Amino acid sequence: MAVSYHLRDLPPGLYQVYPDSPDLIGRLSRALRAHGLRCLVFPLQLADYLVADTVRRETAFDLENQGVTGSRLSEAVDGIIRDSPFHERSCQAPNTLSGGEQQLLAITAALQQPHEFLVGRHCFDFLSTRNMQLIEEHIVGHEKRMLAVTYHANMPGHEQSSMWRINGEQLEELTKTEMEASLPEWQADIPQWRLIAAGVEKTFETSGFALLIPDLVIDKIRCLGIFGENGSGKSTLADCLTGIEVYAGSLTAAIPGTESPKLGYLVQKTGNLSQGLSIKDILQRFIDHERISRLDGGRIEQMLNDLPEYQALAVQDARLGFRLVIVAALFAGDYDLVILDEPTYGLPTWAVANFLIRTIEEWGAKPLAIISHNRNFLAFFCDRIIQMENGTVHEADF
Ligand SMILES: Nc1ncnc2c1ncn2[C@@H]1O[C@H](COP(=O)(O)OP(=O)(O)OP(=O)(O)O)[C@@H](O)[C@H]1O
Ligand SMILES: [Mg+2]
Repeated sequence: MAVSYHLRDLPPGLYQVYPDSPDLIGRLSRALRAHGLRCLVFPLQLADYLVADTVRRETAFDLENQGVTGSRLSEAVDGIIRDSPFHERSCQAPNTLSGGEQQLLAITAALQQPHEFLVGRHCFDFLSTRNMQLIEEHIVGHEKRMLAVTYHANMPGHEQSSMWRINGEQLEELTKTEMEASLPEWQADIPQWRLIAAGVEKTFETSGFALLIPDLVIDKIRCLGIFGENGSGKSTLADCLTGIEVYAGSLTAAIPGTESPKLGYLVQKTGNLSQGLSIKDILQRFIDHERISRLDGGRIEQMLNDLPEYQALAVQDARLGFRLVIVAALFAGDYDLVILDEPTYGLPTWAVANFLIRTIEEWGAKPLAIISHNRNFLAFFCDRIIQMENGTVHEADF
């Protein structure tokens, strides 16, 4: 029999609530407050919860707010950092942490607050399975309940923990069949490319992280998958490849028929960049930089407006749907290789997969690289998959 709890009687733990809907967070927090339960609602982008200039000060902030000061504060912060993944990085600026590390820090800091409940949307979309388990242990250890709205267990065949749905003030466990979604057959003729690295070295002094790729050639890639733990260097690799980060050595994508390929890049941490922007505004930026023509801009807008997948996502929150506008522009635009860092953030995996297939059908296939924590998403699209481990590249074990 399916398990069900009244919100009031929920045992401590992490509850992934599915699916998202426009007023879900509002309804949850109103129901909790009606029973006198204190609840902390995270901002849409979890990283926006972080306000201090170092990991240590961020951890102290929530305790200071409760009147903990002096040596008591110092001891408490030492204890929290010692038990967290940040024990050697207390001086690092939170905005330089990786996407997943930022989500971890926000929840670690918020657990010091007196609220019984933490509530948020898409709080774990950047987290590795290992860190999900770690955060779950911390939540239980603090005797808190976290209700996290997510889409991410929603991929056929995905190994998953329990998923829940809210029904009035009841939290009901969902069965696997209630979340099943099917993916279409897919085949695309993506041109082959090569990734070549020689003497690549990128070190961040404040965190001590180093990306090191002495010598690497990966041949005959169509779609490259990049997998790995939080903080292993996936986004840094993409930043170096695209030239956003300065590094030593040489890292190139060799694409037949192009001397100096143009790389189109959907970055992971877009922050508030998209707040208040419409599809038109985002496309205008591509037009201004002469990456897409005005005509293409109109065509993309038309395509998005005609796509039920996009409408369903954009209606949820323009700040989530806008990532797909960028994906469409990268395929339509003057780019030779498209790199997508966590394209499924905040969105149902199957819908993003469908959207990508439709976009490729409409605009043609391009050499592709995808960074994701979702094994099934990578396995579906990628023919070669690498795994980052502490700044080094390995063959992935899929
Ligand atoms: N500007 C910076 N200064 C200091 N350290 C940094 C900076 N940028 C990244 N780092 C550190 O480098 C490491 C690799 O970061 P990166 O963003 O590449 O990880 P990732 O594999 O993409 O992780 P995630 O899965 O969480 O997105 C992290 O430990 C991060 O804290
Ligand atoms: Mg990353």
